[in-house]
Amino acid sequence: MAEEGEKPTRFLIADNDGDFADQVVEDFKIARKTMGKSAITPIFSDTVRSSQSRLSDRDFDYAAVFVNPVLGTAAWLAVMRSCHQYRVGVPVFVIYDGKPNVSREEAEGMGAAGFIAKPLTYSKMVEMVSGNPTHAPSPDDLDPPASEEPTAARSEQEAPSGTLADGDVMEVNLANLVGRVKSAFDVYVRLSTGKFVRILKSGDVLSHDRVESYRARGVTALHILKTAQADYLNLYDALVTEVLSDKSASADIKVSQVVGQGEATARMLRDSGFGEKSVQRAQQYVANTTEMVSQLAGDNMVVKKLLGDIASLEHGVACTMLASMMLKHIGGTNPAVFNGIGIACFLHDIALLGKPPVIRDELEPRMNDEQRAIFRAHPAQSAEMLKQMKKIPPIIVSAVADHHRRMDGSGFPNAEGNVEINRVAELIGLSEEFLKVAEMSKGTPLNPFDILRVDAEKLFSAPIVDAFIRTFAEK
Ligand SMILES: [Fe+2]
Ligand SMILES: [Fe+2]
Repeated sequence: MAEEGEKPTRFLIADNDGDFADQVVEDFKIARKTMGKSAITPIFSDTVRSSQSRLSDRDFDYAAVFVNPVLGTAAWLAVMRSCHQYRVGVPVFVIYDGKPNVSREEAEGMGAAGFIAKPLTYSKMVEMVSGNPTHAPSPDDLDPPASEEPTAARSEQEAPSGTLADGDVMEVNLANLVGRVKSAFDVYVRLSTGKFVRILKSGDVLSHDRVESYRARGVTALHILKTAQADYLNLYDALVTEVLSDKSASADIKVSQVVGQGEATARMLRDSGFGEKSVQRAQQYVANTTEMVSQLAGDNMVVKKLLGDIASLEHGVACTMLASMMLKHIGGTNPAVFNGIGIACFLHDIALLGKPPVIRDELEPRMNDEQRAIFRAHPAQSAEMLKQMKKIPPIIVSAVADHHRRMDGSGFPNAEGNVEINRVAELIGLSEEFLKVAEMSKGTPLNPFDILRVDAEKLFSAPIVDAFIRTFAEK
């Protein structure tokens, strides 16, 4: 218990502040010179989707997560949810610039271990989890003295023996909580008798002494109640649903909540040199598409669910935005198809809803065989789901079915080389490939357009490649 893991340790920082990221990375490089591999690597993410995939990646340990509500109400809640889902016990700090758009009470009510105003430095972040705080903890943060054995005086801390079974609890790594930050959960240990004892109430700080006293008695792991985790997840789901379906908000505001999910894509486009006008046009197209999709959601539970799932929304919005930039260079589309393309982009992965992040990321090399099989079934399944909805033209249904097919046969469902693929399917495919390359080249000097341009001619037909090149030439 409370042991350092063997895996590399990271900070996840969910924020959209590029200057902050640069400064933290600079400080980290300096720290690495003296600390070597033990320096905690800061990883930045400005989308829910990439936060989720990082938090769910078991190849890494996380010392702490820092999340800025500036990402948008629904988005930061979704990041908090992912922390509780994939990294129970890892402390989450809410960070903010200037005037925060949430209160300390709200943040703590959602299980945040701290509420911190920027400026924030890398060394301060390390201090917060390293056990060498430069700031003395406030009296509220100090824990009650621990004794060697549970005593009558501490019995109010303990669950009645024998009321919990192994299936009721989950093991957690609280290494980074001990002695420093308030626990978001009641914490239990299993004694040698097989009985569980609560050693900490949520909101209290777990002391080194207490951990040591239980370790001396042969306790090797800390546990929390599975229901406590489920309660947090349900709380987040309810909050996100509330944000996205706020009856008092006008349709415009609701739509802008969703379009807010396209902020990261808009930033990426601006960084790639697109002018404000082009970005705004793309955002407008996304807003119109979102409005149409919300109408579809009126009588479809799955679409409704998609509109409440921020990671799916982000991906749909990002794809729609990119496709819309290329659309004007394709031509030959009547208004119904023009609108339908947005809907196809938005809903193309609808069958991936609720699947684990490793599948939803659509990066096959990271999947095992079973995950790959599920993944490869999604174009046909998504198309089938769209077919069930009235009002969706057949060309859109087949575009969704074919969005992973590639001209050279490298995609799926398996196509021989030189196959004709529906143009709209190619448009979705190219948008996705671009997003993947852009995500992978983040933080590097590489230009995603230059990288994809090399492969695009093999993967996509000439008119689509042409539209892609012209889009990036004209910006
Ligand atoms: Fe996709
Ligand atoms: Fe897909």
